[in-house]
Amino acid sequence: MDESFCRNSQSGYDFEAHWNNTYRKIPVNSLGWFEAEPKPTMELIKRCNLPKDALIFNAGIGASTLINELIAANYSNLIVNDISASALVALKQQIGNNKNTAIQFIVDDLTNPSEVLLKLKNVDLWNDRAVLHFFTTKEQQNAYFKLLKNAVKVEGYVILAEFNLQGAKKCCGLDVVNYNEEMLQENLGNDFKLLQSFNYTYTQPSGNTREYIYTLFQRTA
Ligand SMILES: C[S@@+](CC[C@H](N)C(=O)[O-])C[C@H]1O[C@@H](n2cnc3c(N)ncnc32)[C@H](O)[C@@H]1O
Repeated sequence: MDESFCRNSQSGYDFEAHWNNTYRKIPVNSLGWFEAEPKPTMELIKRCNLPKDALIFNAGIGASTLINELIAANYSNLIVNDISASALVALKQQIGNNKNTAIQFIVDDLTNPSEVLLKLKNVDLWNDRAVLHFFTTKEQQNAYFKLLKNAVKVEGYVILAEFNLQGAKKCCGLDVVNYNEEMLQENLGNDFKLLQSFNYTYTQPSGNTREYIYTLFQRTA
């Protein structure tokens, strides 16, 4: 791994620097998770049948083209988050002049959230593709799910799309945790009901493939 990725922070590794370096060095459409069209996510979002002013929180969105799909679908109450300020700069470039909606940008660590994320409430949809699987310690996972449960309202939805058990063991030079639907359900607990899940083979810009599991949950209590 590039030495500049290895600056130490209190937790032993500087993930913020890692992701900032990644987004500074690699063009968005060459990233190993770039999707020209985020079809599986949009299918699950359509299934939620949310009103257009629903609060949609996009965890670790990076520079995803999803933002333009959400704008095109007239969702008007969007929050985008990433640990990397550079990712959100690239996201703003994706949006370009396509600005007919209110978007709140939050640069923050989902596993060590500051006040803005801790105040997040009444979320109608929490959307995560390829973010949770980077949280390899119990402390990181607990912090992430605590934040999610604090933010998502009763009857709100959660989309978690992560590498499945057959999936890659590393991404972007980092270790990952592979998931199945039972593991995601166990982390969410009994207040969340699984509505749909499917495996999905994603093809990277390089032509290689990555195996994901997509899950849609709804909060019941
Ligand atoms: C593999 S990329 C996926 C990006 C986007 N979700 C997509 O599907 O294109 C992982 C993203 O998670 C972000 N990320 C990693 N750790 C994070 C953390 N602790 N808090 C917030 N974002 C994080 C990274 O900066 C990166 O944009």
